[in-house]
Amino acid sequence: MNSSPILEVQNLSKSYGGVKAVNDVSFSINRGEIVGLIGPNGAGKTTSFNTIAGAEKPTRGNVFLEGKNVTGRSTEQLYHMGLLRTFQLSQEYPKMTTLENLMVACKDQAGENIFMNWLSPKKVIQRESKVIEKANQTLEFLGLGNVSSELAGNLSGGQKKLLELGRTMMADAKLILLDEPGAGVNPTLMQKIGDMIIDLNQNRGYTFCLIEHDMELIERLCHRIIVLAEGRILQEGSMEEIRNNSKVVDAYFGSANN
Ligand SMILES: Nc1ncnc2c1ncn2[C@@H]1O[C@H](COP(=O)(O)OP(=O)(O)O)[C@@H](O)[C@H]1O
Ligand SMILES: [Mg+2]
Repeated sequence: MNSSPILEVQNLSKSYGGVKAVNDVSFSINRGEIVGLIGPNGAGKTTSFNTIAGAEKPTRGNVFLEGKNVTGRSTEQLYHMGLLRTFQLSQEYPKMTTLENLMVACKDQAGENIFMNWLSPKKVIQRESKVIEKANQTLEFLGLGNVSSELAGNLSGGQKKLLELGRTMMADAKLILLDEPGAGVNPTLMQKIGDMIIDLNQNRGYTFCLIEHDMELIERLCHRIIVLAEGRILQEGSMEEIRNNSKVVDAYFGSANN
């Protein structure tokens, strides 16, 4: 594991009116790590992802990606720099097939560039078949080959979560922020999503930060855990250290929604 930080978050804050959703949060993620972000509902986990991944501008603070200050850059700019996030609620294109959903996520989509079509149609066709090949390989990796031509809107909740993971694979992301990959997923698929994340991490060099309520999944996957409560970092450490912290236990039991 190379220990240079791929992501550095410095004094990040995000307020909505009087609500300090994220309040002076600083942490870093090293290349090759899987870091868990946990905490009770309303702790500021999703807002942290939103402000890191460009969906919302932070009120204060900075975000560095591979040493470059990327604070306030758009989701799209960050995507081209290798940072991608998935959503707590899956965001597939329901009227497109599973295969097409993967194809449109490909970074090298030739269709993006109309001049390319005009200048070298042959290249476009070559690219297109490469994209299809990559999408098919991704489907195979995810075990979704049998629903390749199914409309994505018809997939089960778990299959949609897998598809989201597949979309990040098509984009050749370096750092992936996963917002509750296990939400609404049955235990068998949960196991599988865990396997995929480990495979992508160990064999393809992906770095992950994941928000998750399922502690078994967190324990299985994460090298390090960050606990958020009321917009602040309560603790950072191993599962063992987190478990032995009474403040963490209080934060969870103090929340009505967990
Ligand atoms: N768009 C928004 N407008 C107003 N308040 C928000 C918005 N998004 C989140 N919040 C508030 O910020 C706090 C943190 O929310 P969130 O980041 O979704 O928490 P978590 O993902 O940890 O459950 C909550 O009090 C929530 O109500
Ligand atoms: Mg959330």
